[in-house]
Amino acid sequence: MLLKNELEILREIRHPKIMKVYDLMEDKENYYVISELINGGPVMNRLKNQGYPFSEHQSFIIIKQVMQALQYLHSKNIAHRDLKLENLLFVSPETKNLKIKLIDYGFATKFSREMGMTLILGSPLYMAPELVKRMSGYDDKVDVWALGCITYLLMSGQTPFQSHTISKIHRNTLAKSVSFHGAYWNMVSNECKDFILKCLERDHTKRQTVQSLLETHPWVKMYETNPELKKIISAPEAANLEK
Ligand SMILES: Nc1ncnc2c1ncn2[C@@H]1O[C@H](COP(=O)(O)OP(=O)(O)O)[C@@H](O)[C@H]1O
Ligand SMILES: [Mg+2]
Repeated sequence: MLLKNELEILREIRHPKIMKVYDLMEDKENYYVISELINGGPVMNRLKNQGYPFSEHQSFIIIKQVMQALQYLHSKNIAHRDLKLENLLFVSPETKNLKIKLIDYGFATKFSREMGMTLILGSPLYMAPELVKRMSGYDDKVDVWALGCITYLLMSGQTPFQSHTISKIHRNTLAKSVSFHGAYWNMVSNECKDFILKCLERDHTKRQTVQSLLETHPWVKMYETNPELKKIISAPEAANLEK
């Protein structure tokens, strides 16, 4: 049933930061998705293989693209519900090229703003408190929570509520304060830390939308308005942000 849903969503969406689908076919046994080949592997693999986290600037470039993809999905009342670094693919294996696309619509669904969603799913490390609490009527803010988790992960190599068992991860998600201790965080701007904290607002009714973060958050503004920072994102890297 979920797979059928995935195909219907894939049929509808078209965006530069989302895997392009050319054709969908089915026979008695299988569904077939003919999609573009996204060649650079999952962002998670590069994070693990390189042995150190991404810089704030690299992370911003990746996160800005994820926000563009999410803004598009949310404008169509589609929630992704499985945002994680395994589902972000680099377009190219070249390490300087930070262009990414969002894949895996297995958990994605259309929802109504009045009714919200009820089915509880997701990956424990990225699951918002309202999912852990099994609240019905949740909305696309679950993707904003996951956005905070992956931003934290890119720059530290760890998710904010990591633990050894699922029940401890759930407990951390509901109550543990987000820690910015450790060597990597010393180099990260306060604007970036605030962005993570805004995404990780436990009350989903107070959590900002992707659109509002894109339009108003100081971390986003910092790169768009500060000429020194614009220079730090060198020309080829800045091109990653373009469509
Ligand atoms: N368009 C694509 N181009 C290249 N690799 C892909 C593509 N789509 C998926 N993959 C690879 O297949 C893996 C699983 O795909 P995904 O859609 O995430 O399914 P699952 O539901 O099994 O996680 C991805 O992590 C990625 O490595
Ligand atoms: Mg996947």
